[in-house]
Amino acid sequence: MNPLRSTLTKSRLSTRTLLASGSILGATRVSSVRTMQNRAYSSEVPKKSGSGGLVFLTLAAIGGAAGYYYNSTQSFKTKTATPVKTEKKNLDYQQIYNDIADMLEEDPEYDDGSYGPVFVRLAWHSSGTYDKDTKTGGSNGATMRFKPEAGHGANNGLAIARDLLEKIHKKYPEISYGDLWTLAGVCAVQEAGGPTVPWRAGRQDALEAASCTPDGRLPDATKKEDHVRDVFYRMGFNDQEIVALLGGHSLGRCHADRSGFIGPWQEAPTMFTNEYFKAVAGRKWIKKTLENGGWQWVDKNNTDVMMLPAEIYMYNDKEFKKYFDLYAKDEQKFFEDFSAAFKKLLELGVPFKGDEKVYEFKRTNA
Ligand code: HEM
Repeated sequence: MNPLRSTLTKSRLSTRTLLASGSILGATRVSSVRTMQNRAYSSEVPKKSGSGGLVFLTLAAIGGAAGYYYNSTQSFKTKTATPVKTEKKNLDYQQIYNDIADMLEEDPEYDDGSYGPVFVRLAWHSSGTYDKDTKTGGSNGATMRFKPEAGHGANNGLAIARDLLEKIHKKYPEISYGDLWTLAGVCAVQEAGGPTVPWRAGRQDALEAASCTPDGRLPDATKKEDHVRDVFYRMGFNDQEIVALLGGHSLGRCHADRSGFIGPWQEAPTMFTNEYFKAVAGRKWIKKTLENGGWQWVDKNNTDVMMLPAEIYMYNDKEFKKYFDLYAKDEQKFFEDFSAAFKKLLELGVPFKGDEKVYEFKRTNA
C-alpha cells in the first residue's frame, strides 16, 4: 500500500455511503432525467467493401461528405469519422452513466478507493488541448487514443482510465471515445457529490495519429501564474473560470510515478467539495524537496497534503486570489461556476449542430 495512503485511510469514507446518508452538503440533486433520442453520429469507420461501386454509392448516399474535416488554418489535419445516420443506435446515456458509476469503487485497493479522480483528469486532459485560434484539439477526436498524444508527459497514468473505460466501450461500441471520456468525467464529479454538469453527445473520433495535438498544450505544474493564464486563455477561459476549474483538485492525488509530485490536496480526495480552496487559503504551506530533485508545497500540520508550485504562485496573484477566497467561503458558488466551466471545457471544439439533447444525469447514489 502506498505509505501516504495508509495515513489517509483513516479519513477515507465511501463517498456513496456519505451521500446516501446525506452528510455531504451542497450536492445539487437532479430529479428530472431526459430520455434518449436517436444519436445522429456514429464513430464507426465505414467498412471497406469488395465492390468499388458499392463504396461509391455509399459515399454518394451520405451526401458525398468527405471523410475528412480539414481546417485550412490548421497546421495539421483533423480526420474524423464520417457522420453516418444510424438506426439501431438508441444509446441510453443514463445507462452508460450508471455503468460507469458502478465501476468507480470496484477496486478498494486503487488509490483512495475510487477511479473517479483519474476519470476527471482524463476528461480534462482530452479537452484541455484546445486552441481557440486554430480551432484544434479538444475532446472531439479523442486523439489521446493515439501513441503520440498518449505519450505526452502530461498524460502519464491516464492509460489506467482509458483502459478501464474500454470495458464500457465494448458494451456500447457506438459511443465515440470523446463522448465516453467526457461522460465519465461528468459521472465522476456528480457521483463524488459534486454539481450536476449538463452534457451533450456529438464528439466524433479521429481516425489517425496525425490528428494528435502537439505536446505542451497542457499546463506545467512547476510554472508560474503567467504560464497558467497563457494555457487557459488559449482555450478561451477567464481568470474566474480558471480558478473554478482548478477546484477539480478537490479530487484525487499526485503520483510520484506519473507527475513526480506526491499526495492529495486535502484529506478527503474522493469527495467533491470546496475543501481544496479552504486548504489553499487556510493552511500554512512549506516547501518540500522531492527525491526526484523537484519540490512541492506541503501542509505544515499534515505533510501528506500538498500543493503544486503553480497553485501557490496563482494564490499569490491578486486577481486569482480573489476567486480562491470566494470559493473557500462559498461552496454553492464554486459548484455553480465549476459546473459551467467544466461543461464549457468538455465542449471546446466539438462540432455541435445545435439541436443536441442536453442531459442532466441522475445520480446513482442520490
Ligand atoms: C494549472 C492547472 C493544472 C495543473 C498545473 C494541474 C496539474 C496536475 C498534476 C501535476 C496532477 C498529478 C497527476 C498525477 O501525478 O497523477 C494532477 C492531477 C489531477 N488533476 Fe490537475 N492540473 C491542473 C488543472 C486541472 C483541472 C482544470 C482539472 C479538472 C477540472 C484537474 C483535475 C485533476 C484531477 C482530478 C487530478 C487527480 C488525478 C488522480 O487522482 O489520478 N486538474 N493535476
